[in-house]
Amino acid sequence: MKILVLNASPKGNNSTTVHTALYFQALHPEHTVSFLPVGQRIKAYETDFTPVRTALEEAELILFCYPVYTFIAPYQLHRLIELIKADGVNLSGKFASQITTSKHFYDVTAHRYVEENCFDLGMHVIRGLSADMEDLLCERGRREARHFFDQLLFSCTNGLFVTPPIPAPARKQKAVYQPVLPAIPKTTVKDVVIVTNCAQDDLQLQHMIADFQAALPYESRVVNLNAFPFAGGCLGCFGCAVTGACVYKDGFDAFLRKTIQTADGFVYAFTISDHYTHSSFKCFDDRQFCNGHRTVTHGTPIAYLISGDYRYEPNLRMIIEGRSEVGGNYLCGVATDEGDTTAEIKALAQHRDAGYRLHRRHPSGWHLSGCYKCGIQQTNEQKRLFEVGFSAANSGRYL
Ligand SMILES: Cc1cc2nc3c(=O)[nH]c(=O)nc-3n(C[C@H](O)[C@H](O)[C@H](O)COP(=O)(O)O)c2cc1C
Repeated sequence: MKILVLNASPKGNNSTTVHTALYFQALHPEHTVSFLPVGQRIKAYETDFTPVRTALEEAELILFCYPVYTFIAPYQLHRLIELIKADGVNLSGKFASQITTSKHFYDVTAHRYVEENCFDLGMHVIRGLSADMEDLLCERGRREARHFFDQLLFSCTNGLFVTPPIPAPARKQKAVYQPVLPAIPKTTVKDVVIVTNCAQDDLQLQHMIADFQAALPYESRVVNLNAFPFAGGCLGCFGCAVTGACVYKDGFDAFLRKTIQTADGFVYAFTISDHYTHSSFKCFDDRQFCNGHRTVTHGTPIAYLISGDYRYEPNLRMIIEGRSEVGGNYLCGVATDEGDTTAEIKALAQHRDAGYRLHRRHPSGWHLSGCYKCGIQQTNEQKRLFEVGFSAANSGRYL
């Protein structure tokens, strides 16, 4: 079988994850395995997609190999999925599976995200392997990898695919939402920042943001990520863990700390695409890793303004709720344009206000305590590694 490994780790050949695919190649010389370093060449593929299209067309099985980044896939893979869909290359009927490494912290949401996009492309999806970072170093981990390869090859021959989710029904063509809420008086006691990747022609989201600003009793600022000159996605080099500074010199650290993290409340505003939002937001998510282990946004209330079929995106909902809980942020709510948009935006603005005045907190549930419960089952060394990963997440590092 012709197998294409899409190596979406920004570390390229030094990726931990891709070594599981190399292990497969070593064990199964009867199959042709080729590799594309999409994590490192994503910018080049934006300019010329031909090498990716050719490789995808030739492959029978496409294996997405990537590290879990901030509850989902790295920016580089999000961008690749956008490029694949924009190109229109026909992948229907091909097999798709995935290999990740991580500390198993929200690996499920990452896998679901890739599955959802493979279903969009009409592929036969085979359950992937979520490995720990050190798994290939021990016999148990290698055995689990071998079992996964056997199951993968069995499924390609005999079937047994992941059950596709029910797709959202086609959206009724509605007129673009118009801002209708009158501006209420504002105070400057709180600084609210609205972080968005709103495109210039996305009037729907622009108008939702305008109405939210009008109904909010505080002055608010809009920070559009599209205006920031990102030099690239997070490289996963962990340099920031040592120095507290990112190796990129595009000024993102200062921008994050002085323009966004100074706010008393965050509102994230985006339009759903490819089961998340445009990859520009994922670039922002990943680059926040430069926070290191410092607790920077714990306790800050957050809210979401979302344009799109949010109710048909259970995985995205899990990510939003999980991130809020893990980051210790009070989730004031999510206003969408699926029903009574004006009423939802108004209620969100009011709830946001109450969130400040009453210093509300959500008690933590499974999204947070589940991580601790998993930790209890592990060996001391695994537990220590888990806690290092977890404390990073809890400090907003993965947010
Ligand atoms: C920006 C960033 C975000 C991360 N987010 C997560 C996460 O949400 N959950 C997790 O378990 N591990 C997370 N990790 C750890 C990576 O998944 C892990 O280091 C992975 O094994 C790296 O694989 P690679 O060497 O193939 O790139 C993150 C690492 C980075 C750099």
